[in-house]
Amino acid sequence: MINLIWAMDEDNLIGKDDKIPWHIKEDLLYYKSKTKGQTVIMGDVTYFSLKGYYKDKPLPYGKIYVATLNDNLKIDDGIIVRDLNKFLNEIDEDIFVVGGLSIYKIALKYADKLYISFIKGHHDGNVYFPKIDFSDYKLIWENETDLVRYTLFERIR
Ligand SMILES: NC(=O)c1ccc[n+]([C@@H]2O[C@H](COP(=O)([O-])OP(=O)(O)OC[C@H]3O[C@@H](n4cnc5c(N)ncnc54)[C@H](OP(=O)(O)O)[C@@H]3O)[C@@H](O)[C@H]2O)c1
Repeated sequence: MINLIWAMDEDNLIGKDDKIPWHIKEDLLYYKSKTKGQTVIMGDVTYFSLKGYYKDKPLPYGKIYVATLNDNLKIDDGIIVRDLNKFLNEIDEDIFVVGGLSIYKIALKYADKLYISFIKGHHDGNVYFPKIDFSDYKLIWENETDLVRYTLFERIR
């Protein structure tokens, strides 16, 4: 099962340089409740951004895969993936794709479930999620607060 999880605002904004454009604690807690201890895959930009944030503390996931096209990259807390399409085609365990843009773009066609936090309002940034064809998905759960509409979509075709 391939799960994508991300937060985007009303303009599909997901990033400001290598950072998240907003600080919304409840969304961070929601994200953590879904991904803590899970197998995840992320691009190396997102990986190094998270490492900068967590500093010496371990990243709060289970098994970590990091996608890169760089033959020389070595990491000590995860497994390098050099062919993301092959990896996503062959994986037979539950995995969360946690970003960033390049990885979401490739993974979207493999996604069984989308955990999307729709952040209310318009924010300042420069990285945008591509348009999604929601007719491929069915909304199976949602919960709305003043700041965020949390949703879960399941693929139907
Ligand atoms: N709002 C959210 O929920 C959310 C979540 C996560 C990230 N983000 C945002 O996303 C942005 C980062 O996105 P990004 O696209 O710059 O970085 P990224 O997806 O984290 O990493 C990109 C890297 O992935 C590697 N890559 C690309 N295609 C590949 C392939 N086919 N196979 C293997 N590796 C491949 C390349 O590494 P090499 O260059 O080393 O070859 C590329 O530089 C930031 O703004 C971040 O804040 C937002």
